[in-house]
Amino acid sequence: MGGLFLTLTAFAASISVSSAIPLAKRNAYTFVLENPYGDAIFELGNVSYLANTKHPKAVVAADCKPAASASSVPVTVVKTNESSVTQGVLEAAISSYLSGDDVFNNDFLDGLYVSSTVSSTLDLSAINYLVSLNTTHIFLDDSITADGTFSQISLGSAVEISAGPYLASIGDGSVSFATVYRLYPDTHRTFLFGAYDANDGENNHYPLGAFLPKFWDPLIPVPSRIYSWGDDRPLAGERVAIKDLYDLKGLQTSAGSQAWAYITPTANGTAPAVQQILDLGGVVVGKQKLAQFASGANPWEWQDEHYPFNPRGDGWLTCSASSSGGGCSVAAYDWLDYAIGSDTGSSMRRPAAIAGIYGQRPSQGLMSLERVVPLGGATDTAGVFSRDPYKWIKFAKSWYSPALRQDVSITGLSTLEVPDTEAFPKTILYPVDYLPLNNSAAEPILQDSIGAMSRLFNMTVREFNFTATVQNWTDPVASNLTTLSAATGVINTWTQWSVVANPLITAWKALFDGRFPPIDPARRPGWISFNGTLYNQDTYDAALATKNTGVEWYESELQYSTAESCSESIMLYDIGTGGLPSFREQELNDSPAASYLAVLPETAQITGANICPIFGCADFTIPIGQVPYYSNVTFHEEMVPVTINLVVKRGCDFVLYNMIERLADEGVLKSVKTGRTAF
Ligand SMILES: *[C@@H]1O[C@H](CO)[C@@H](O)[C@H](O)[C@H]1NC(C)=O
Ligand SMILES: *[C@@H]1O[C@H](CO)[C@@H](O)[C@H](O)[C@H]1NC(C)=O
Ligand SMILES: *[C@@H]1O[C@H](CO)[C@@H](O)[C@H](O)[C@H]1NC(C)=O
Ligand SMILES: *[C@@H]1O[C@H](CO)[C@@H](O)[C@H](O)[C@H]1NC(C)=O
Ligand SMILES: *[C@@H]1O[C@H](CO)[C@@H](O)[C@H](O)[C@H]1NC(C)=O
Ligand SMILES: *[C@@H]1O[C@H](CO)[C@@H](O)[C@H](O)[C@H]1NC(C)=O
Ligand SMILES: *[C@@H]1O[C@H](CO)[C@@H](O)[C@H](O)[C@H]1NC(C)=O
Ligand SMILES: *[C@@H]1O[C@H](CO)[C@@H](O)[C@H](O)[C@H]1NC(C)=O
Ligand SMILES: *[C@@H]1O[C@H](CO)[C@@H](O)[C@H](O)[C@H]1NC(C)=O
Ligand SMILES: *[C@@H]1O[C@H](CO)[C@@H](O)[C@H](O)[C@H]1NC(C)=O
Ligand SMILES: *[C@@H]1O[C@H](CO)[C@@H](O)[C@H](O)[C@H]1NC(C)=O
Repeated sequence: MGGLFLTLTAFAASISVSSAIPLAKRNAYTFVLENPYGDAIFELGNVSYLANTKHPKAVVAADCKPAASASSVPVTVVKTNESSVTQGVLEAAISSYLSGDDVFNNDFLDGLYVSSTVSSTLDLSAINYLVSLNTTHIFLDDSITADGTFSQISLGSAVEISAGPYLASIGDGSVSFATVYRLYPDTHRTFLFGAYDANDGENNHYPLGAFLPKFWDPLIPVPSRIYSWGDDRPLAGERVAIKDLYDLKGLQTSAGSQAWAYITPTANGTAPAVQQILDLGGVVVGKQKLAQFASGANPWEWQDEHYPFNPRGDGWLTCSASSSGGGCSVAAYDWLDYAIGSDTGSSMRRPAAIAGIYGQRPSQGLMSLERVVPLGGATDTAGVFSRDPYKWIKFAKSWYSPALRQDVSITGLSTLEVPDTEAFPKTILYPVDYLPLNNSAAEPILQDSIGAMSRLFNMTVREFNFTATVQNWTDPVASNLTTLSAATGVINTWTQWSVVANPLITAWKALFDGRFPPIDPARRPGWISFNGTLYNQDTYDAALATKNTGVEWYESELQYSTAESCSESIMLYDIGTGGLPSFREQELNDSPAASYLAVLPETAQITGANICPIFGCADFTIPIGQVPYYSNVTFHEEMVPVTINLVVKRGCDFVLYNMIERLADEGVLKSVKTGRTAF
């Protein structure tokens, strides 16, 4: 039978099969090109795919020879426990694939590999069903015998692969099954490049290096969700994008700078924070744009990369900085589950606010930042964006593992303790120097949320003045917000200078005849005027001590633990624009109906964003609603998200997740949609 790939005509003429699933006429396999890593990009109809043919998932002996016309066949793998495989069994599998996965479709039924965990037969109804589907290649292993004769390819042994779509390559005496990825265009240009698991046995990822010329969109490979249906790890099959500050073995880390990419080699290891995601079953789909070197650059200051697009409102809103690619991508794509960012001064929290999604700055020290390009060693944190509160919490609780906490020598703070309890806060702190929300149409949405929260947890709302409270402390260091802000400045400046700026400037000078590297304007002036008298290891160490003094006061005077509560209070403020639109185009923000970002409230001394970088606390951005504005871009009414920030004492992250979960159970918090509107 070797080499014969007959269509199953045997029963087709006489028996008509009624199919419960209406299946459109199949599109044929069309090879497009081989990427630089030897993997195949192909099309089925108008959908593009990648198949990891260089390092297939499995290769198995089979009674076949390569056919001249069809050595690559899109196939569907069905696994069953049934002793009789009927039309109903196949239809049930196919229909669950169609409804549960966005990669699989009818076009993968060109071939079928059925395998059973028990000794089984493929009955006549199943064979006739396959005839009606025009399935040309049937692969069977020893577990299944066919009830009738027809053309099949017998596999030497059962293939250890998950169910789902594959690209089969039929060779001389063997068949290989390659993982397939659907290629989605990054229509909001939030990615630098797509990436996928090389499956090369060396834990490398490959960049995809393909884009859609019609719209200049990078193509992002996402694997079939069916592959992970039998995998019970917490993040099995979840598609995760990574801010391009984190190393992933086999990929270049750029930190948003081509100059940095030029002088640094491809990463030869993976950041523990990213490895943890892979170990939990997550799938990394690409590297994302960021404000260069994680600065707070405005959209119009981006030179090296083109600024990503926000799907909300008129499509012309800012994505904020610096985890802007991540925030806007999660608001834009249903095919993406999570994006990883980092927050030094606002970079998770503000993009989440602007995009109307969930995003956090965790407690200082909660996650290792080894192999992550630093901004401020002791102020950097790692966070994750999500549209859904439950999914967000699930990710956070499994990702922030105790084994990955930072050493106290890095944070300069006391050892982090992270209880996972229901010791909820008793007080809602409403700081009058930061609230109400700037747009009067947004404040009632906040008041409704506060009302629901205080009723549910029996909390008392207390108005207070944050600035006055801190300034009232008797310690000259902890009460001086100027001193504390300056310490944060030293921490950020020295870390980035010693690890990034100085090595880059030095290397560039040597390579290019004394020239200064091409750097975005958000960083260039600071790097040029760097003053080693102000910023050095000694001033850094002193700044860490200053920071610790502030944190100790904060944790005894402002947000402290009691017998009943991990954090006696939850403090609210807004890191966004209070319900006003903020635009990617500078001049549009000059109107009174719009807002710049990082506006210092009139009577506060520091921005709300700076509170937790100084005091080490946990600060989560939570979407609560949306308000309309009239757009001067689309000349149409559009919606802008309204979010609120919830702040608790350092270490009370998991208690806050438990609170958010209860709020979601009660319908107070909801999952948000992708696209123009969050709700
Ligand atoms: C199977 O082939 C027949 C005849 O060419 C065609 O009418 C039918 O649409 C095909 N079915 C599928 C599922 O491709
Ligand atoms: C792709 O083809 C399907 C039908 O095969 C059609 O429904 C869909 O609109 C097409 N999409 C694009 C982007 O052309
Ligand atoms: C087969 O049975 C095992 C054990 O009960 C179960 O875990 C697995 O999901 C079943 N597989 C299918 C395809 O039904
Ligand atoms: C990884 O690269 C660094 C320099 O970039 C080098 O010092 C180190 O030895 C390399 N490690 C491995 C395992 O190749
Ligand atoms: C709610 O809190 C108040 C004090 O703030 C307390 O007196 C009251 O007993 C609490 N109610 C419930 C139902 O726990
Ligand atoms: C908060 O306190 C500061 C410092 O005392 C003061 O300058 C400011 O006006 C107060 N803000 C409000 C809204 O009361
Ligand atoms: C400042 O401290 C004094 C004395 O402890 C206290 O009475 C006052 O209420 C405090 N003011 C603020 C704004 O915390
Ligand atoms: C805060 O400290 C700075 C110096 O670091 C000093 O100039 C300023 O007077 C202090 N402010 C207060 C209110 O003590
Ligand atoms: C660096 O800072 C020190 C301390 O403030 C100052 O005396 C010195 O002039 C500065 N150097 C330069 C080159 O600006
Ligand atoms: C749109 O432009 C008009 C006229 O310049 C201005 O009054 C209005 O505030 C602008 N709207 C926004 C949302 O910026
Ligand atoms: C509200 O917006 C105005 C105008 O942009 C600004 O001056 C003010 O500081 C804003 N208030 C807050 C709390 O952001």
